[in-house]
Amino acid sequence: MRTDKVDFTGVQSTMLVTLYLRALDSADPEPILGDRFAAEAVRRIDYDWAKLDKPHIRRSRTAGSLRPKLFDDWTADFLRHNPEATVLQLACGLDTRAFRLTLPTGVHWFDVDLPDVIELRRMLYSENENYHMIAASVTEQAWLDGIPAGKPVLIIAEGLLMYLPEHEVRQLLHRLTEHFPRGELIFDGFLPWVPKLTQLTKKVLGRRYAYPPYLTGIRDGSDIERWNPRLRCRERIAILDRIGETKLGRNPVLRMARRFDRFRNTLCLFRADYEPRSSSS
Ligand SMILES: C[S@@+](CC[C@H](N)C(=O)[O-])C[C@H]1O[C@@H](n2cnc3c(N)ncnc32)[C@H](O)[C@@H]1O
Repeated sequence: MRTDKVDFTGVQSTMLVTLYLRALDSADPEPILGDRFAAEAVRRIDYDWAKLDKPHIRRSRTAGSLRPKLFDDWTADFLRHNPEATVLQLACGLDTRAFRLTLPTGVHWFDVDLPDVIELRRMLYSENENYHMIAASVTEQAWLDGIPAGKPVLIIAEGLLMYLPEHEVRQLLHRLTEHFPRGELIFDGFLPWVPKLTQLTKKVLGRRYAYPPYLTGIRDGSDIERWNPRLRCRERIAILDRIGETKLGRNPVLRMARRFDRFRNTLCLFRADYEPRSSSS
C-alpha cells in the first residue's frame, strides 16, 4: 500500500537521500548492502523521487551503502557477544537495520527520530514486542527515561552527530552514558573542515542541495573521549579506504585522495565503549 504524499524540509529530508542511495544499491547486480526493504520503501512512499535522481546524489551510492553495511557488521558483532541487549538507534530515519539483521530473541530494539519521520515510518513498519519506535528529538530527555537500562546497550548514531551543535552532542553523550551503565557507541563523523565548508558554501550550494549544513566535525577518536571522558574509542574506519576496496578503487582521483589524511579521513566511522563507573569514582 502507498503511503500518504510526503515531503520533508530541513534535517529530516536527509533520510530520504540515504534511503534512496540504499535503494539504488539494492538494484545493483552486485550490491554492497542489498537492502530490499529500502527498494520496497521507495516504491511505497508517495514522494517525488525524481528530485533525488541527480548525478551528484547517485555518485554517493557506494559510500551510501558501505556506511550502513559497516554499521550492520558492527551491530551483528555486538549482538553476537551480547545476545541479551538493548539497541538504541538514534536518528533512524527509514533505516531497516532491525529487519536486515537476524536479532537474537533477547534483544530489544528502539528506533528514535523526529515525530514527522516516525509518522512516515509507522506507515511502513509495525512495532512488536521486541521492536519499538520513538517519536522525539534525541536532544530531549523524557523519551530516554522510558527505556529500560539494565542490559548492555548498543547505541547507533548513523548520520546524526554532524547535524547537532557540539554542546548538544556532549549533552546527548552524557545523558546516554548516565542512563545506560555500560555499552558501546557506534557513530560517524566528518573531519572539521567539512562542516566549515558546508557552512561557508551554504548560500551557493543551497540552490543545488537543499540540505542543512553540518555543524560538528570530529578530528579523530580523541574528540569523542574529550566530549565524554567515560568513552574509549576502539576502532576507526575511513570510508574512503573501504571505497578503495570496491570497483571504484582504481579511480585515480580517489587513489590520490587516499594519500592525504585530510581527504582520506573525510568521513570516518567510530566504535567506542564504556564500562560501569567504579564505586570509588
Ligand atoms: C542523514 S539522515 C540518517 C538517517 C538514518 N540513520 C540513515 O542512515 O538512513 C539524518 C537523520 O537524523 C534525524 N535527526 C536529526 N536531528 C535529530 C534530532 N534532534 N532528533 C532525532 N532525529 C534527528 C533526521 O530526522 C534524519 O532522519
